[in-house]
Amino acid sequence: MVPTFRAAARKYSIEPATRAMKKLLDWLKGNTPHDAVAEWERRGRPVPPPHVVKQRVLRTYAERFQLQIFVETGTYRGDMVEAMKPLFHKIYSIELSDALLRKPGVASSRTLTSN
Ligand SMILES: C[S@@+](CC[C@H](N)C(=O)[O-])C[C@H]1O[C@@H](n2cnc3c(N)ncnc32)[C@H](O)[C@@H]1O
Repeated sequence: MVPTFRAAARKYSIEPATRAMKKLLDWLKGNTPHDAVAEWERRGRPVPPPHVVKQRVLRTYAERFQLQIFVETGTYRGDMVEAMKPLFHKIYSIELSDALLRKPGVASSRTLTSN
């Protein structure tokens, strides 16, 4: 059986390189987060929305209710933690997967805090 590229990327730990390559290709093609939102809207706003849309929702709530603390269940790669750092005084992000927690750059403990 031929493994999918995604499976091979996971198996050989080349996911960070794959992500960096995708970002580079997007940059070379001139794609922006705005393009991702436009494409998502063109396709009828399917679930899940692009990450930037989720960030926008959280930013709206943070500002509307003047929230100071962000609690997230599911850190994954820590992208939302990074995006929310400027908005909250304290961030708690809880990740269930030990494998993800062991990845450099994701988290050194179960709780990430900022500021
Ligand atoms: C969709 S990803 C999270 C993406 C991340 N919040 C972001 O916006 O970049 C889901 C993550 O939740 C984790 N997870 C699933 N169930 C969980 C639970 N009950 N508690 C904590 N983490 C959980 C998974 O291991 C996975 O890393």
